[in-house]
Amino acid sequence: MPTVLITGANRGIGLEFARQYATDGWRVFATCRSGDGLGDIGMIEGDVEGLVMDVADHGQIDAVAGRLHNEPIDVLVQNAGVMGPRRQPFGGTDYREWETAMRVNVFGPMKVAEAFAAQVGRSEQKRMAFISSRLASMTENTSGAYFIYRSSKAALNAVAKSLSINLAGAGITSIILHPGWVRTRMGGPDGNLDPAESVSALRKLIAQSSPADNGRFLNVDGAEIPW
Ligand SMILES: NC(=O)c1ccc[n+]([C@@H]2O[C@H](COP(=O)([O-])OP(=O)(O)OC[C@H]3O[C@@H](n4cnc5c(N)ncnc54)[C@H](OP(=O)(O)O)[C@@H]3O)[C@@H](O)[C@H]2O)c1
Repeated sequence: MPTVLITGANRGIGLEFARQYATDGWRVFATCRSGDGLGDIGMIEGDVEGLVMDVADHGQIDAVAGRLHNEPIDVLVQNAGVMGPRRQPFGGTDYREWETAMRVNVFGPMKVAEAFAAQVGRSEQKRMAFISSRLASMTENTSGAYFIYRSSKAALNAVAKSLSINLAGAGITSIILHPGWVRTRMGGPDGNLDPAESVSALRKLIAQSSPADNGRFLNVDGAEIPW
């Protein structure tokens, strides 16, 4: 069976990715920021291994990649993310939170890609999915605000786009996905999708992606999102 590695897999969209791939019989490496997340991952039935990997801790990323050195990884789901403070009023910017968001949303996925590209390149499916947000889109930004989240996800898109080009030679297809507005701790209770609906649509997009889709920025319904 194929293998998937998911970041931020202890709750929300990441936990649902782990559940659905496990239900389909995949081998799942479900990683989480701290040991506290291992309990929820441990409740998933199937071939699931929980691993602590804070995407802001590069030493930890290298250690997990070293441990999984011999494992081909068919799909790498770069899901871990933070929003920053809920209220981000102009004049009250929290620059420390901004730095944290850049470490988690941008440097983390880059470092994880660097650490695991070889294992993805050795797999059958060779796919990377970056969970971004349509709030990153410049074209669609007509309402302003969300300085921290928008800028960090826009930077993630730039990184993932470059990776799609740099890793194409290794046969890796990278796609950038907006999961919809999902009812999670980040999305809140008013979102229009539950994690199961979002993730089953995202998994279809990942499964159907071909080298022709490399570097595309797609909504959960498969429609292209303008940069
Ligand atoms: N929900 C939405 O409507 C929506 C919309 C667009 C995009 N997204 C994106 O979808 C992804 C998942 O979001 P969600 O809605 O599931 O949010 P969530 O419920 O807040 O979950 C976020 C996950 O990321 C993990 N995480 C945060 N910092 C981390 C770090 N340094 N290392 C490893 N893991 C870390 C969290 O772990 P802890 O539990 O340890 O904090 C948690 O597992 C994010 O990238 C988010 O930006 C969500």
